[in-house]
Amino acid sequence: MSDFEPSASAPTVIVADDDAAIRTVVRRALTRAGYAVRGTETAAGLARLIDDGVGDVVISDVMFPDGNGLDGLPGLLARRPGLKVIVVSAQNTLSTAVRATEAGAFDYLPKPFDLDELVRAVASAVDANGTTVDVSPPHLGDDLQLIGRSPAMQDVFRTIARIVPTTLTVMILGESGTGKELVARAVHDLGPRRAAPFVAVNMAAIPRELIESELFGHERGAFTGAAARASGRFEQAERGTLFLDEIGDMPLDAQTRLLRVLQSGEFTAVGGARVQRADVRIIAATNQDLRRLIDIGRFREDLYYRLNVVPLRLPPLRARADDIPALARHFLDRAAAEGLPRKVLDQSAADAIARHDWPGNVRELENLMRRLAALTRGDTIDGDAVRGGLDRIAAPPPPVAAATDLSGAVAGHLAAYLARFGDDLPPDGWYDRVLAEIERPLLQLSLAATAGNQIRAARLLGINRNTLRKKLLERGIVSRG
Ligand SMILES: Nc1ncnc2c1ncn2[C@@H]1O[C@H](COP(=O)(O)OP(=O)(O)OP(=O)(O)O)[C@@H](O)[C@H]1O
Ligand SMILES: [Mg+2]
Repeated sequence: MSDFEPSASAPTVIVADDDAAIRTVVRRALTRAGYAVRGTETAAGLARLIDDGVGDVVISDVMFPDGNGLDGLPGLLARRPGLKVIVVSAQNTLSTAVRATEAGAFDYLPKPFDLDELVRAVASAVDANGTTVDVSPPHLGDDLQLIGRSPAMQDVFRTIARIVPTTLTVMILGESGTGKELVARAVHDLGPRRAAPFVAVNMAAIPRELIESELFGHERGAFTGAAARASGRFEQAERGTLFLDEIGDMPLDAQTRLLRVLQSGEFTAVGGARVQRADVRIIAATNQDLRRLIDIGRFREDLYYRLNVVPLRLPPLRARADDIPALARHFLDRAAAEGLPRKVLDQSAADAIARHDWPGNVRELENLMRRLAALTRGDTIDGDAVRGGLDRIAAPPPPVAAATDLSGAVAGHLAAYLARFGDDLPPDGWYDRVLAEIERPLLQLSLAATAGNQIRAARLLGINRNTLRKKLLERGIVSRG
């Protein structure tokens, strides 16, 4: 080999992988970067090298012919505390990333990995000598159904794996339907607080005047209608995780209150005097541009910095097209598990799905698959069915998580909307705008439920067909038939 000999003091990297081709390319890249390299193809070989005192950094596969690299990792670290192990695995699920971190791995790279990235990981492992993270014992439930083999999602998994053992505040950013709530749950379920509650509060769904009592509780008689003492979300989430969803919709006075609680670690119920300790991990989420909200004075900059300790940005679905087929299959499987007929996509369906740009992200894909599972005749879904399904519901309305009934949900939205204008009023003509907002999903879902049959949809709605046609036209809804 033409590579230069590394100096005697060069750090030694052990490459443990049963794939000879991987050992060769990694050895070449590391030698070129100035490291000494030893290779082994078995878990036993790796253990022997460690016992012999060889190696400053280990690059380890997970599946060895003689055992599982992750299972062996705690043993290696017990014998050589501080050893930096970079796990590389073709089983690139979130659970592998988290298990690697829990087992004490320094880093985790999904296969296929980028050689430059691996060399960078080795360099930071060498730099980080002596620092080890205290991790909780591995204890994992079933694999969380977070699908993502695309490079963009693998990055997300690695960040999740790093924050799971901590209590750092996380800010999840991403367009609507990208999986923010699912990720928040994963962070909770995989972490040391998993035995305590995960409590989600949707700021957009609570009337502004009730937000503080919702979060902090209230004493009896604190305000009109407060007939009894009620606990708030902070108390309910004690020792667990509090998920503040749609944080961009939080009214300013509630923001001030929240900031004070985060700074002091204490809160009092509305109308109460007793100070309670706030022992919750906070995860916030928004699909809004908080920087812009700060600029126009709708979001407190100091609260933003308190919450944005670890930003976690979820890529839109169009930026992870590799994941779409697996996600589509996952949602069809789930529909079948829920009792809908089992369906498969043919090539034309896969092509149609690949051509769409998914403004509603994963939720749009999920809704489409569920609808196709319910409505398609036969076992196979083709391209026409996909296009028909996409036409019929251009943008599915986002469900309102926290409200349980329609008028509650509407009230929440209206209150949040009003709150956005502070002391001002929204533009005139609110009545018609609100009715239009409600009418559109009603019409779209009725059409979806009747496979686009306008006669049947009109009957379902209890209006005549001409009225339906007129309304579809007014609302700009495209429909066949
Ligand atoms: N990577 C994924 N794998 C499997 N299912 C996913 C994934 N991401 C999202 N989902 C599913 O897609 C749906 C939408 O996700 P979620 O509600 O977490 O999105 P969101 O970002 O909170 O959306 P919104 O901003 O509209 O509240 C959920 O049913 C969720 O389970
Ligand atoms: Mg959400």
